[in-house]
Amino acid sequence: MAISIRPLHDDFVGDVSGVDISRPLDAESVRILDDAINRYAVLVFHGQSLDDDQLLAFGRTFGSIAPPRNHRAGHRLQHAEIADISNLNVKNELRARDDHRRLDSLGNQLWHSDASFRPISGALSMLHAHVVPPTGGDTLFADLRAAYDELDDDTKVLIDGLVAEHSIFNSRGQLGHTDYTDAERAALPAVRHPLVRVHPGSRRKTLYMGSHASHIIGWPMPEGRLLLRELTEHATQQRFVHTHKWQAGDLVIWDNRCTLHRGARYDDAKYRRDLRRVTTQDLDSASDNPELVAAG
Ligand SMILES: [Fe+2]
Repeated sequence: MAISIRPLHDDFVGDVSGVDISRPLDAESVRILDDAINRYAVLVFHGQSLDDDQLLAFGRTFGSIAPPRNHRAGHRLQHAEIADISNLNVKNELRARDDHRRLDSLGNQLWHSDASFRPISGALSMLHAHVVPPTGGDTLFADLRAAYDELDDDTKVLIDGLVAEHSIFNSRGQLGHTDYTDAERAALPAVRHPLVRVHPGSRRKTLYMGSHASHIIGWPMPEGRLLLRELTEHATQQRFVHTHKWQAGDLVIWDNRCTLHRGARYDDAKYRRDLRRVTTQDLDSASDNPELVAAG
């Protein structure tokens, strides 16, 4: 059966059928999916049954996988490279309301781009749903290429060449979650990335910001924060946004280089939600922070 892709939005998001991603993909299938990612930025697959080994293998088809942040509470999953996007602790139980990991992960409900706080930021994320709540917990995506295209010309001139500072502690701090040790903070120093980039696969200009971005280098703090807020409000207007309602077996790929996403609230004291993610590295971004990349 041939791979086919059905658009789910005027600008981006494709629904993919005709491929079993639990098995190694042939070169032609990889090429079709690569082209589709560059066109649609978000791809949705349904009815996929992948264990963690298969998810990791699928992710590696598209690039090198960067492990998620270490967390003091330990890792529930076998592979360090797989991000645990769940509300479960290492005993597979619902996390307590005041669980540090839970409070940290609430930051994922702010618009963000995965790993934009890293010297080498995230390219493609692939999120696979094992267990989903009966209601809530959607993931929303915003198209930053379309949002860039619709900026007025004065704003395009204003933001050309600007650089934003990103830190995980900025997004968490916005929610008042500041309970991190000096060692945790030292392990993730702030990084810089251009505010406008050219998406390599499509050659389209795109914004690059989100809740990890705190301010603009060389600008007064409040002025840079206001600009980032204005751009986020612009880019997350309804016409640029698609909402994915999860079913178990869904896998969604998104391109962090040209989209923002956020999780939606759900009753995490009542329902289990077990999603697992791998994210490839955007090696093009290594030149944004050469000293940090060299320091490893
Ligand atoms: Fe995310």
